[in-house]
Amino acid sequence: MDYFIFFLIVFISIFLGKWVSVSVSTSPHPYDAIFNFGDSISDTGNFLHSGALAFPVIGKLPYGETFFQHATGRCSDGRLIIDFIAEAYGLPYLPPYLEITKGQNIQHGVNFAVAGATAFDPEFFYQRKVGALLWTNDSLSVQLDWFKKLKPSLCTTKQECDRYFKRSLFFVGEIGGNDYNYNFFAGGNITQLIATVPLVVEAITKATSVLIEEGAVELVVPGNFPIGCSAVYLTIGQTFNKEAYDNNGCLKAFNAFAEYHNRQLKSGLEFLRKKNPHVNIIYADYYGAAKRFIHAPKHYGFTSGTLRACCGGGGPYNFNNSARCGHTGSKACSNPAIYSNWDGIHLTEAAYKYIAKGLINGPFSTPPFKSSPFKII
Ligand SMILES: *[C@@H]1O[C@H](CO)[C@@H](O)[C@H](O)[C@H]1NC(C)=O
Ligand SMILES: *[C@@H]1O[C@H](CO)[C@@H](O)[C@H](O)[C@H]1NC(C)=O
Ligand SMILES: *[C@@H]1O[C@H](CO)[C@@H](O)[C@H](O)[C@H]1NC(C)=O
Repeated sequence: MDYFIFFLIVFISIFLGKWVSVSVSTSPHPYDAIFNFGDSISDTGNFLHSGALAFPVIGKLPYGETFFQHATGRCSDGRLIIDFIAEAYGLPYLPPYLEITKGQNIQHGVNFAVAGATAFDPEFFYQRKVGALLWTNDSLSVQLDWFKKLKPSLCTTKQECDRYFKRSLFFVGEIGGNDYNYNFFAGGNITQLIATVPLVVEAITKATSVLIEEGAVELVVPGNFPIGCSAVYLTIGQTFNKEAYDNNGCLKAFNAFAEYHNRQLKSGLEFLRKKNPHVNIIYADYYGAAKRFIHAPKHYGFTSGTLRACCGGGGPYNFNNSARCGHTGSKACSNPAIYSNWDGIHLTEAAYKYIAKGLINGPFSTPPFKSSPFKII
């Protein structure tokens, strides 16, 4: 049926003589490759490959129990947003940069994201005496360096690179969430952290600029999630003050913080668009896409709600820092598909799928994504 509609549109377009202006390529796939930068929201194995000392449980079940049925290094029970995007564009799952072997075909893209990664360089955290909390030193600028190092094996001449990158989608993030997490978990308060938002946003837009200089013309920059609805923030920010919670049971102040970050990021991207009119920069509204199911959990099949983690070691939100998912004293729920929160910090495959759907099918991306040949079902 979808194919029928697709061909119908193609025929109508040809009939109207508009097809050529709609797309110069006759391939129904708008992209040949995806390059991804970020943190645990999109890491498909780099952190695990580099040792995962700060988070060894990522290398064993129940991580990966859904779909893959073994731990892959993804911080979820199954697939991530980036996996669903790859599927939607008919591309293979992105190989983690640190796992690439000599001679491996990387023409369909590479994933540079590392769980725990920050938009700031590690020095920022060491100067503030919270460096010891960092899971990884592979910050956004390290990931960009990896890309630059790999580029000669993707394309050589400017002409070849231009043609290849025209059909490559670059994801810059989600990144920046950890820059706040480390400071919040170290006891930082919102007033202190508000001051760092413009700097985090600058690090993200700077990285986006670097990729544009390297030849990227199709970019996606996601914002932050409604962190006030995540089990870890609900646990550390727990209060008897009912006024602190919204109608969905989320902490208003943390959500307002995430929205502030997103507003700043959106205006940063607006500036980049004006400076680079030849480039398409999509803002991916992870906040709005997640808020949709947080507002109406049952409609999306989250019959166990969206605030309690599926996998954890007790407490009102099933997040217990002394017994986090995968550790002794924790336990995974029997059906992750009826939860949106996986381990207190990260979301379930089911939740990521709804977010990916909200990006590809709309309305949570500005401007919209190029239409994909495959529907996310
Ligand atoms: C990051 O770098 C610092 C300084 O070189 C080092 O002490 C620390 O062990 C590194 N952290 C990780 C997680 O690799
Ligand atoms: C946040 O921390 C700063 C510095 O420690 C302190 O001066 C301020 O009162 C705190 N604000 C709140 C709202 O707790
Ligand atoms: C959190 O985990 C620790 C260690 O397993 C356990 O002793 C404690 O009772 C747990 N707390 C809650 C609220 O379940």
